[in-house]
Amino acid sequence: MSEQTSTSGFLGWIDERFPLTKVWKEHLAEYYAPKNFNFWYFFGSLAMLALVIQILTGVWLAMSYKPSAADAFASVEYIMRDVDWGWLIRYLHSTGSSAFFIVVYLHMFRGLMYGSYRKPRELLWILGMVIYLAMMATAFFGYLLPWGQMSFWGAQVIVNLFAAVPVVGEDLSVWVRGDYVISDVTLNRFFAFHFLVPFVLAALVFIHIVALHKTGSNNPDGIEIKYGPKGNRWDDKAPADGIPFHPYYSVKDIAGVVGFLFLFSAVVFFAPDFFGLFLEPPNFQPANPLQTPAHIAPVWYFTPYYAMLRAVPPMFGSQFPGVVVMFAAILIMFVLPWLDRSPVKSIRYKGPAFKIALAIFAVSFVVLAWLGMISATPLRTLLSQIFTVLYFLFFLLMPWYSKIDKTKPVPERVTE
Ligand code: HEM
Repeated sequence: MSEQTSTSGFLGWIDERFPLTKVWKEHLAEYYAPKNFNFWYFFGSLAMLALVIQILTGVWLAMSYKPSAADAFASVEYIMRDVDWGWLIRYLHSTGSSAFFIVVYLHMFRGLMYGSYRKPRELLWILGMVIYLAMMATAFFGYLLPWGQMSFWGAQVIVNLFAAVPVVGEDLSVWVRGDYVISDVTLNRFFAFHFLVPFVLAALVFIHIVALHKTGSNNPDGIEIKYGPKGNRWDDKAPADGIPFHPYYSVKDIAGVVGFLFLFSAVVFFAPDFFGLFLEPPNFQPANPLQTPAHIAPVWYFTPYYAMLRAVPPMFGSQFPGVVVMFAAILIMFVLPWLDRSPVKSIRYKGPAFKIALAIFAVSFVVLAWLGMISATPLRTLLSQIFTVLYFLFFLLMPWYSKIDKTKPVPERVTE
């Protein structure tokens, strides 16, 4: 044990057997984060909070939920009406999933703005993308569980997409469902995965933080913090542009938590279905395999990709091209670190080309989300096609526009 971490008493006893003080210092009290974090840096800790809320409420829901086609819908109604505080636990969970995606989308957007995906944080970004995939899988599995009309038909549409894969598609979709239609078997396995994947998610978040603490945080200036003597009471070798995570950011993050809980509670208590956006009206009817709802759409956080799927015309009667485009839209984000050739990282010092491209990208994502929610008409399909192309151009043209962009000189040290 090093001099620095030697402690006495009970803590000393622990420290000789487990590096508690060492970990506390390295990752909290002596983890130096850039001193210029702004509003956008709240969303990482808020994503962790959202994950904890989902796991806790999820485990408690599972105590009264029954994963069978015969009982699932009724067990959710039982939770809502008869289980003590069951309505609250369920609404925290259903609203929580939307809150989780809002927070993570803002977290990702921050990464885009400040170039947090750039060297040396490529792996941190890729781990984030793996987290995003795991989140989407979890949400997809979870949505089947209440066994409402939209649960059933949404899963039906998405699992049928596997059937579009050439040659093995039909077999693949039967393998995923465990049956020829979405059934009791499917519900049971989706429940198993919906319970499992969040714990994988927790492990991935841990690795995400390990990667973050290896490279250190980026910041709104997109420049590395400078090291040097600081002469404060913590450590003379502390970075001059950094401040200890604890207590400065542990306390600052509480402000983010309060703001989040305020808005989150407002929705949970006053508009838990958020006007049909977080809980869709057809899902208040039990699943009926004999009656297709007039309009099938996934929950809002999937709709940008759903709009892309519908935008691509079938080829030889197969939806496969649409499926490819939809997955490509997600996979292209993995290679983002290698598409950006700008000499600067942060939007603060990037030129008009990047700013316009990012704005068009953000608008395209939101418009696609809206188009994916509403029924398709020829005009809306055309709009979906235009915005799908714009979405991809953000990535595909990045090597070009990030290079020719008129960037501003970056400062030597982070700005306040
Ligand atoms: C469960 C979901 C997630 C959790 C709990 C989480 C947690 C965190 C935390 C606590 C931080 C440090 C605080 C901060 O910078 O805000 C962070 C940083 C970061 N995360 Fe995530 N994250 C999640 C998902 C993602 C996703 C989906 C991406 C991108 C695809 C991502 C990319 C990043 C990047 C690039 C940073 C460094 C940002 C910087 O230093 O500027 N994260 N994450």
